[in-house]
Parts: sequence; structure tokens; C-alpha cells
Amino acid sequence: YRSLRVALLGGGSVGSQVARLLIEHGPELAQRVGAELELVGIAVRDVDAKRDVELPRELYTTDAETLILGADVVVELIGGLEPARTLVLQALRSGADVVTANKALLATHGPELFEAAEQVGAQLSYEAAVAGAIPIIRPLRESLAGDRVKRILGIVNGTTNFILDRMDTSGADLDDALAVATELGYAEADPTADIGGYDAAQKAAILASLAFHTTVPIESVHREGITSVTAAQIESARKAGYVVKLLAICERLTDPDTGEEGVSARVYPALVDRRHPLAAVHGANNAVFVEAEAAGSLMFYGAGAGGVETASAVLGDLVAVARRHVVGGPGLAESTHASLPVLEIGKVITRY
Ligand code: HSE
Repeated sequence: YRSLRVALLGGGSVGSQVARLLIEHGPELAQRVGAELELVGIAVRDVDAKRDVELPRELYTTDAETLILGADVVVELIGGLEPARTLVLQALRSGADVVTANKALLATHGPELFEAAEQVGAQLSYEAAVAGAIPIIRPLRESLAGDRVKRILGIVNGTTNFILDRMDTSGADLDDALAVATELGYAEADPTADIGGYDAAQKAAILASLAFHTTVPIESVHREGITSVTAAQIESARKAGYVVKLLAICERLTDPDTGEEGVSARVYPALVDRRHPLAAVHGANNAVFVEAEAAGSLMFYGAGAGGVETASAVLGDLVAVARRHVVGGPGLAESTHASLPVLEIGKVITRY
């Protein structure tokens, strides 16, 4: 095998799981890609910080700029705008492909980054930036690229879905539900980005841009969080057959006043009919409901956050990007588990 140099920026809950999976699944991934994915280092702020995953100490460095020199693929999992933006631009300009989970960066500086990638023919992948483990970026960018998306309704923030679900099922008020979310680790110490709808708005900007082949700046996303939702409102919605969900709504619309056709992206607590599939999205899960002209309705469901879950999406991007480097690498069919035997087992009575 030839070897592809992978530089990891960020050693937090997603970064350390990406590193672990890269090491533990190394031989299997090499077989699938036709090249070894060599983790050359992990750039962190503090080499000695305590981490949940044990990795060789020599992988860590505080010098991100040197680490990305000579990398084939840079995986950015630092989050936030700076230094992530500068490092991603440096990586792209050096010709490296970049995989990122950074929704704030994409929602704010997307056009600048995509242009930098285009100029050198590099790839910028971001499956993990929206709805964690759920494949939604690639389906929108590739599988549905020949269709016309009409509307997306997304539950793209796990923290607020947990809180609203808790209020709906137990009658709790917002503060009590938030306290439970914090205790169970679903809410950050500072939950402003989640309950204020900022996190969902960034994801809405990314989804709307992709779905409608345009640029939807974060400033154009109408945003309301869940802070003023009361237990009484949830209860009256319930009685009327609805559940309150914080939705990211992206749609093609005709302005009723001007007749102008365009795209709208909005985030606010919305009433969802209890018979709608989105009403069945409980706890901290995420789901994205896509309505397309030809395909009809599709729903993508799963874990919207979590270190190892989000790492799955990052690894998927990494494999896809690495395959582009390997001309004449294994075809998709050959790269499946050719060595695993097929078991001749008939019907097994199981309940799902
Ligand atoms: N705070 C986010 C959520 C994490 O609750 O969904 C994933 O972006």
C-alpha cells in the first residue's frame, strides 16, 4: 500500500475517537481505500490534558501549522472560527483535502473556503457538521443532486429536542428539563448556542445552501430559540394533537407580496402533527425530513451528537477523500469484506 498522511486538528471528544478508530480499524480501512491512512499527529492546545481515549503521547503536538505541512488530508475538529479558519485555509492552499465537522466555520465562511478548495482542486468535506452521525450532506450533495428539493424540516439540535421531549412527556417546565439535560450530559455548561437556536441556525444555513444550490448566509436565517416555550403551551399543543419541536425549515418559496421566487431558512419552535414521523423523534436524537419533487418524502434519523457517533461521519468523509487519491484503487465491490464468509442461514424468527 501507499500511505496517505492524515493530520488531525483537535483532540476533544470527536477528535480522540477519530484517532482511535483510525488506529484500531487501520488494516480494514487500508484494504477498503487501497492506501494506508497514516495518522501523523494530533494538534492540541495542551499535550498533557486529560483525555478519555489513551493514544500514544508522541502523536500530540501544539504546533498545528507544522503538522499540516505535507499532510494529504487535514481533519479539522477544533470548532469555532479561529484558528480553525486560518488553518483550514492554509491546508487547502497547500493542496491538502480537508474534512471538517465545524458548522460555525462553514455557516460563516463557507464561500471563502469552497473557493480556496476549488482553486487548487482540493476537496472540502463536512458530513459531520450537520446532525452528527446521520448521513445528510452526501445524500443532498450527491444522491438528490438530480432532483429538486422543495423543503427540509430538520430536528438538528439534540439538546433542545431532549428538553422539549422531556417537557412533552413529563409536563416539566423549561428550567427543570434543562437541568435534567445538563445532568445527563446532553447540554453544555453554557447551553446558549443550543437553546438560543444558534447551533440549529448554522445547520439550517448549511442545509439550505446545499439543498438549493445557493449560498444562504447565517445572517439570513430567521432564528428563535426555545427559551420562551412554556409547559402550558406544550400542554395545549398536545391536546390539539401537536408536539412542539425546534425545527430548521429550509424551503423554496414565493414571496406572497412580490411574487419573487427564492429560498427561506428559519429556525423556531414549531407545531408538528403527532402523526408526522418527526413527532416520533425522541430524546437527544436528530432527524432530517426532506421533501423532493421526484423522490417524495425521505427521512434521515439517528444520533446528532456524541464523540464516537460523530467520528463515524468524519471517518466516512476521510475514506471518500482518500479513495480519490488512489487511482486504480479497489472498486467499491472489491473493497467490501471480501474475506468474510457468507453464512447460509435461513429464516430466523426475530422481532424488530
Ligand atoms: N449541541 C449540539 C446538539 C451538538 O445538541 O445537537 C451537535 O452539534
